Amino acid sequence: MRKKIVCGNWKMNLLNSEAINLVEKIIFLLKENPAPKIEKIIAPPFIYLNEFSKKSTDIKIAAQNCSSENNGAFTGEISAKMIASVGTKYVIIGHSERRNYFSEDANTLTKKINLCLENKLQPIFCIGETLEQRTSNNQFKIIKTQLAESTFHLNETDFSKLIIAYEPVWAIGTGKTATKDQAQEMHQFIRKIISEKYNAEIAQNCSILYGGSCNASNAKELFECPDIDGGLIGGASLKAEDFVRIIHSFPTTKS
Ligand code: PGA
Repeated sequence: MRKKIVCGNWKMNLLNSEAINLVEKIIFLLKENPAPKIEKIIAPPFIYLNEFSKKSTDIKIAAQNCSSENNGAFTGEISAKMIASVGTKYVIIGHSERRNYFSEDANTLTKKINLCLENKLQPIFCIGETLEQRTSNNQFKIIKTQLAESTFHLNETDFSKLIIAYEPVWAIGTGKTATKDQAQEMHQFIRKIISEKYNAEIAQNCSILYGGSCNASNAKELFECPDIDGGLIGGASLKAEDFVRIIHSFPTTKS
C-alpha cells in the first residue's frame, strides 16, 4: 500500500550514547507533535538494531544493508535472517555508497532483495544516476536499468513489498538537492516503468521516496509533488528537530 514515509539513514555516525540520545529526542518530539499517518523509520548502524527494534514506539527500524549470503563462513557479514530475528522491519538495499565503495553490482543486489523478502523484511531499494550520467542525458536509461536489473524478476506480490528510493548520486551529502521538477519528473518516470512492467495499480501503490540533501527547508516543496511519497534522509536525520520537521513537511491533505 502506498504510504507516506520518512526514513533517516544515519550511515556510520553516532556512538552508542549519542544514538540513544537522538532516538529518545525524536520520540519526545513526536509525542509532543505526533504524525500518526506518516511511516517513520530510522536506519541506525547494525550494532544498535537489536536495542532499537525492541523500543515500544511507532518508529520502525531499518538496517542499512544485509549480506547477499544466507549464512555461514562470511566473516563480518550480517544476514537478513539475523536482522529479522531482532525485530527489524526494513533494509536499505543498493545505496549508492554501497554500490560505489563496496562494488555492489546488480547481481549482488538481486540476491539481497531476495533474501530480505524471504525473511519478511521490506527492502528500501535505492537507485540514482551520477552527475556525469545526468549531464549526458542518460539519467532515465540508468534508472530504468538499475530498477529492472535487480527487481523486475519479482512477481507482482513481491514487487509490491518494495519501497523505492530515488537518490541522485550528485545530490547525496553535497547540499545540491534535485529541484522539485527534476525529482517529480523522475518519480513519475519510475512509476511509469513500474506500470509498464507490472500494472497501473501496482505502480500507484508503490511508495517512491526522494533522497539527496533533503532537509527541513526543502522537504515541503518536494513532498508536495504528486509522485513523491517522502524522503530518505541522511545528514538532516542526525538532528532530532530537523528530522521531525521533515516528518511534518507533507501537505496536510496527505499526512
Ligand atoms: P543526504 O543523504 O541526505 O545526507 O544527502 C541521503 C542518503 O544518502 O540517503
